[in-house]
Amino acid sequence: MTLSRKRILLGVTGSIAAYKAVELLRLLTKAGAEVQVVMTEAATRFVAPLTFETLSRQEVLLDMWSLAYSHRIGHLEASQRAQLFVVAPATARTIARLALGLADDFLSCIYLASRCPVVVAPAMDCDMLEHQAVRENLARLRDRGVHIVEPDTGPLASGMVGRGRLAALSEIVGRIRLILTPRQDLEGQTVLVTAGPTREPLDPVRFLSNRSSGKMGYAIAEAAAARGARVILVSGPTALAPPPGADVIRVETAEEMYRAVLAELESAGVVIKAAAVADYRPTHKADNKIKKGGALSEVALEPTPDILAELGKRKGPRILVGFAAETDDVLANARAKLQRKNLDLVVANDVGRVGAGFDVDTNAVTILDATGGTEELPLLSKREVADRILDRVTALLRRAA
Ligand SMILES: Cc1cc2nc3c(=O)[nH]c(=O)nc-3n(C[C@H](O)[C@H](O)[C@H](O)COP(=O)(O)O)c2cc1C
Repeated sequence: MTLSRKRILLGVTGSIAAYKAVELLRLLTKAGAEVQVVMTEAATRFVAPLTFETLSRQEVLLDMWSLAYSHRIGHLEASQRAQLFVVAPATARTIARLALGLADDFLSCIYLASRCPVVVAPAMDCDMLEHQAVRENLARLRDRGVHIVEPDTGPLASGMVGRGRLAALSEIVGRIRLILTPRQDLEGQTVLVTAGPTREPLDPVRFLSNRSSGKMGYAIAEAAAARGARVILVSGPTALAPPPGADVIRVETAEEMYRAVLAELESAGVVIKAAAVADYRPTHKADNKIKKGGALSEVALEPTPDILAELGKRKGPRILVGFAAETDDVLANARAKLQRKNLDLVVANDVGRVGAGFDVDTNAVTILDATGGTEELPLLSKREVADRILDRVTALLRRAA
């Protein structure tokens, strides 16, 4: 009964996959959850509310205007009670309503009023899913922290084969479980994470840097802390709030990051290097601002200390994870890096791809391991990518124990 007494609100919308929501309700109640169902008007054309009402043993929320709710504001009551709101299946229309914040039915009012985690499992024809409007709406929800359970690929109700099928119910239940009962599988571990760019000064006001926002590393630090680890986050300059539960050490240059990482290395059983460390720095930093109009035709550069290579040399039993941000030959370059730097895992990141890489909230990565295995992940939020990386780390820790 892993979801024992968890109060879940299940939103059902007018997709041909609405019948699967009946089974989802059954799985959630079987796991111990108390589930209340809210249906859109279109959903009632696919499955009768009576089915959900009988199986959930709770009244189904249907009509915001019904006199049955007149003495209490139904959508506020429902959203305040819920510990999680899952919309499965979610139609293109409902996704648009949620993205725009339209409060024109029970389900969308509940979304706006709720403060609990929200999970959305889209289901629609592949052409609809690929439409820019739907993609933008999903990206907007993702940016707001909504958990999107990506649809599967396979035969669709339209007769086409493609991406758009409601994700497997086990995947939806698994995601809910992860959110409501976070694993503590990193308890007792110290995880050292690096994040963000570095800045290599040219003079007191100018520097060489890169486009890293730090979001990926911060998501890893947050996820590791949520899973029970002591987290040390060595961060280059970013505009991000410190992740809850992490000890943050702020640095500016590659040299400072190198020193901070080595100083903290002793206690760390896991090191995840998500920072985009400058490879080169100016050989000389001018004491005064370089004046405009002067003849600055060349800047001499020298390599910065290679933090990952140094960690590889001092590896011992420690789990070492690196990132490879590439724009070409992504997997080949990443595998070469894994071997060259003695890593356990490398996360290959095609930073040229839309929705992946710098300064966005999503990422599409492939995880390569030292035995030659590769795992390609779909486009996920950075927090979800973080958890997938940590799943691999905990598997390695278990194997080493
Ligand atoms: C047979 C049938 C199947 C449908 N399946 C889907 C679907 O899987 N996904 C989707 O986004 N819309 C689907 N639609 C269209 C929606 O029902 C329609 O956009 C409706 O307005 C959705 O309203 P709602 O989001 O308020 O439930 C389907 C329509 C019909 C007639």
